[in-house]
Amino acid sequence: MNRNVRFPAIKVKKEGAEEVRKFLESRGVKDRKRLISVDGDHVIIPIKEEYADRDLLELSKLRMDFEIVSQDKPVFARERNLKDVLKEVIPTHLQKFVPKSYKIIGDIILVKIPSELDDFESQIGKAIIKLHPNCRSVWRDFGKEGELRKPNLRFLAGDKSHTETIKLENGCLFKLDVKKVMYSTGNQHEKMRIAKLIDDEVVVDMFAGIGYFSIPISVHSNARRIYSIEINPDSYFYLLENIKLNKAENIVPILGDSMYITPERVADRVIMGHIFSHEFIEVGMKAIREDGYIHYHESVPLAIRERPIKRLVTTAEKLGKKVEILEYRKVKNYSPGVIHAVVDAYVH
Ligand SMILES: C[S@@+](CC[C@H](N)C(=O)[O-])C[C@H]1O[C@@H](n2cnc3c(N)ncnc32)[C@H](O)[C@@H]1O
Repeated sequence: MNRNVRFPAIKVKKEGAEEVRKFLESRGVKDRKRLISVDGDHVIIPIKEEYADRDLLELSKLRMDFEIVSQDKPVFARERNLKDVLKEVIPTHLQKFVPKSYKIIGDIILVKIPSELDDFESQIGKAIIKLHPNCRSVWRDFGKEGELRKPNLRFLAGDKSHTETIKLENGCLFKLDVKKVMYSTGNQHEKMRIAKLIDDEVVVDMFAGIGYFSIPISVHSNARRIYSIEINPDSYFYLLENIKLNKAENIVPILGDSMYITPERVADRVIMGHIFSHEFIEVGMKAIREDGYIHYHESVPLAIRERPIKRLVTTAEKLGKKVEILEYRKVKNYSPGVIHAVVDAYVH
């Protein structure tokens, strides 16, 4: 409906505006670059472009009439970035290391800080909270650890006990505890792309996490059933929460190691969304009923970018199956010279 809306905003009656504003802030939907405006007895709250044509699921639960409109003559907030705020605090020769971006997950912020700024981490945290007064805690992000992709975080500012949040993405709600489970922000298009491919299918999501693929598939497609397998009990707990939050009743959650518990010969489509899962390709192919699709993710150096394709072909040959490679895409950069790739293959 609201596709192509320029400067999208939520128009809501003044009485409910504060509640809606708080909701939009807490979900990271409000566009802080534009100021709120008033139109008669309505308030116009700017929202980010990517939410203009999305179903703002939970907002409808507030039981308020709202409309997505185009904000007339938007007034832009004065840009203030982290570097500006820290100008007086960090010595000039170190200012080039100040992070240019950070992850906002609901009302929690994760920031990667280069070691050159170790002595200033707490000031950086406080400056970030100042820029995002509606966020409740800021954490230094040291990346993810091990097979279970456990986050390694250190508290910087705000409320240390505030680790659980809800992120709204593509009309889906993802509840998680940032200290316990990872949230991958770079591949939202990939999640929607897969959801849009599905028509009346049975899906096996072999590395479901908190439902990164399974939830959008359930919300945005007419999948018959989605088997969502997850080994990490913390992620599995939030997978169950997110199934409830999104009323994703066609998801069958399974706690355990997909190497051993992936159902065989049930699926029209298999998602292997873990970038270090080549040893699971055989199990993934065996999950396919007769013929079907596999979306196989791999972290691969550009110098050997054909490797995921070769791995799929070799495994299919071993199983006496045929594989057609439909697409090879970069999802995002992983590290210098290494990409996170996904291969779409038809196996029969
Ligand atoms: C990288 S995350 C999923 C990311 C998500 N698909 C995305 O791209 O945003 C991988 C998930 O697989 C889970 N996992 C790792 N090994 C597994 C296994 N053998 N069986 C089931 N789940 C596993 C991890 O706990 C983690 O939640």
